[in-house]
Amino acid sequence: MPPLGTPTLADAVGPHSLTAADQLLAGETVQRFVAEAGAATLVAANAVATASGPSTGPRVAELAGRVDAVDLSSPLGSTEAALAEAADLYLRDAVYFHHPGYMAHLNCPVAIPAVAAEALVTSVNSSLDTWDQSAGATLIERRLVEWTAGLIGFPGAGPAAVDGDRPGARAGTGAGTSPDGIFTSGGTQSNLQAMLIARNHAVAGRPGPLPSRLADLRIYASTESHFSIANAAAMLGLGKDAVVPVATDAAHRLDADALAARLAEGAAAGTRPMAIVATAGTTDFGAIDPLPGLRRLADRYGAWFHVDAAYGCGLLVSPGHRGLLDGIEHADSVTVDFHKSFFQPIGSSALLLRDGGLFGHVTHYADYLNPAAQAGTVPNQVDKSLQTTRRFDALKLWVTLRSMGADAIGAMFDELIDLATAAGDSVRRHPDLELAAEVQLSTVVFRYVPRHAKLDSARLDALQDAIRAELYASGRAMVAATTVRGATATASAAAGTEAAAGHGARHLKLTLLNPRTTLADVEQVLAAVVRHGERLLATGVPHQPVPSQPVPSQPTPGEPAASEPARAEGGAR
Ligand SMILES: Cc1ncc(COP(=O)(O)O)c(C=O)c1O
Repeated sequence: MPPLGTPTLADAVGPHSLTAADQLLAGETVQRFVAEAGAATLVAANAVATASGPSTGPRVAELAGRVDAVDLSSPLGSTEAALAEAADLYLRDAVYFHHPGYMAHLNCPVAIPAVAAEALVTSVNSSLDTWDQSAGATLIERRLVEWTAGLIGFPGAGPAAVDGDRPGARAGTGAGTSPDGIFTSGGTQSNLQAMLIARNHAVAGRPGPLPSRLADLRIYASTESHFSIANAAAMLGLGKDAVVPVATDAAHRLDADALAARLAEGAAAGTRPMAIVATAGTTDFGAIDPLPGLRRLADRYGAWFHVDAAYGCGLLVSPGHRGLLDGIEHADSVTVDFHKSFFQPIGSSALLLRDGGLFGHVTHYADYLNPAAQAGTVPNQVDKSLQTTRRFDALKLWVTLRSMGADAIGAMFDELIDLATAAGDSVRRHPDLELAAEVQLSTVVFRYVPRHAKLDSARLDALQDAIRAELYASGRAMVAATTVRGATATASAAAGTEAAAGHGARHLKLTLLNPRTTLADVEQVLAAVVRHGERLLATGVPHQPVPSQPVPSQPTPGEPAASEPARAEGGAR
C-alpha cells in the first residue's frame, strides 16, 4: 500500500483542476484511489490501535452539536481533510467492538480477511441482483449458500442448480426439493423473508383476495423470540397479534408442552398455524429451543418450521458444541447471521430454505432485469431476494473461509462459550451478584443485589440501569441491560420474587463475542459493577429507572479510574 503522501492526480493537476469525473474510481484514477483508500485504512487502524476503551461514553447532545455544525454545502476539497473530519466526528467517539471491555450487544470483532475483502466489494461494486451485473460474484454466493445448507444438514445439499432447473422453482409450488438460500442484510430481513414465504405457502391455493386469506393465520413463537418476528407479522398484513406468545421453561427455551396447548387452543378456535418459530440462541440467554420436538408439532399441525439461528449459527462450525443444534436439519427455513458469530463485518446474513423451489413465492420477473424467458438459463439471484440492487456481502465470508478456514471460526465460538461459562461461575461466586439463569451460549445475565441493603424491586431495577449508565460514561466498559420475565434459575426465583412472578426485573447482560476478552477482563467488569453499585447506594440510588441516555462520568471515590477494566495495552487515547 503506498504511504500517505504518494503523489495523486490531485497533486499533479491541483485539486481545483480536477473535473467531477476525476473523483470517480476508474482506470485513470487508480493511483489516487490507492493513496486515499490506503490513507483511510491508516486512519481506521490508528483509531482501532489507540482505543483505550470500547467507547469514550459520549453524550448525544455534545456529539450532535459537532455533527450539526458541519456545513454540508462547503466541501473541504480533499479526501484527506474529509477523513480527518470524519475521524474527529465519528472515530474519536465510536463504539469499538474489538475492545475487550465491550460486552454489550451481539456485535463481534471482525476477521481481518473479511475487512480486507471489503476493499474488493466496494471498489468493484458488483450488484448481486443479476448475473449480468455480478458474474463470478453470483457463483461465489451460491457456493456459500450450498456450503451453509450442508452445514445445516439439509437433505440434498449440493451444487446449486440454475433456479429454473429445479422442478417447481418457477411456480413456487414446492415441488423442488434441493435446498437453496440468499444472502440478506441481517437477521431481521432473513426472518421477514422466511415469514413471507411461509405465509404465501400457507395461503397458496386458497380462494379469494390475499387479505381475506390471512385473517386466521397464526405464528407461534416463544416470548423470548426476537422482535423481528412480530414486526414481520405486522409487515405481512397479519398484525402483531397474529403472533401467539408461547411460554418458556426455566432455561428460557420454548416450552413444547405449552406450545402443544396453544396449538390445540388455536385449532379449537378455528385458527390456522402458519408457522412455528424456534430460536437457536435467544438474544438474552442464548437459549436453544427444543428443535426436534417443535418439528414434530409443526408436522402434526401442518405448520412451517422456521429456526432463527441468527446468534447460534456459530455452532454450525463448532468442534465442541455442534450437537446443540441437532434438529436444525429438519427446519423448513433457517436464519443465520454471519455478522454475529462468524466474525463478519455488518451486514452478512442469509436465509436458507430446505426446499429452494419455494423461493418462487417471492420471484418477480421484470422485463428490464430478469425476464421470465431467461428463467432457468441464467442464475439471477434477484429471483430469490427481497432486495434488487444488493451488495456482494458473501465475498467477506468467502475470503475468510479461504484464508483461515471454518474450523478457526468454530474454535473461537467454542472459546467464547467456555469464557461465558466461567464468567457465569464468577457471578455465582460473588455474594452481591445474582445469576439469572445458567449460561448457555456466550451471554451472562445477572444483577447486582447488595447483601446488606434492603431495596424494593423498583429501586433494584433502577440500580441496574444506573450501574450500566455509569459504566458507559466511564468509557472503560460497556454492558447491556434487559428485563427478565418469568421463571429464573436463581435463589430469588425460588423465593418467589417479582421476576419469578412474571413482572420482570432489570438485569445486566454481558454478551461475549470477542475471543480476545479474558476471564480477567470479565472479572474486572464485574468488580466495576459492584463498585459502581456500592457508590450509587452510598450517594443515592435513583428512584425511577434511569433514561437510556447515560449520566456524566463520575469516578468512584477512592478508586483511580485506571483500576477499571481498561487494558494497559489498550492504547493512549
Ligand atoms: C435471535 C435474533 N434474531 C434476529 C436478530 C436480528 O438480527 P439483525 O440485527 O442482524 O437484523 C437478532 C438481533 O440481535 C437476534 O438476536
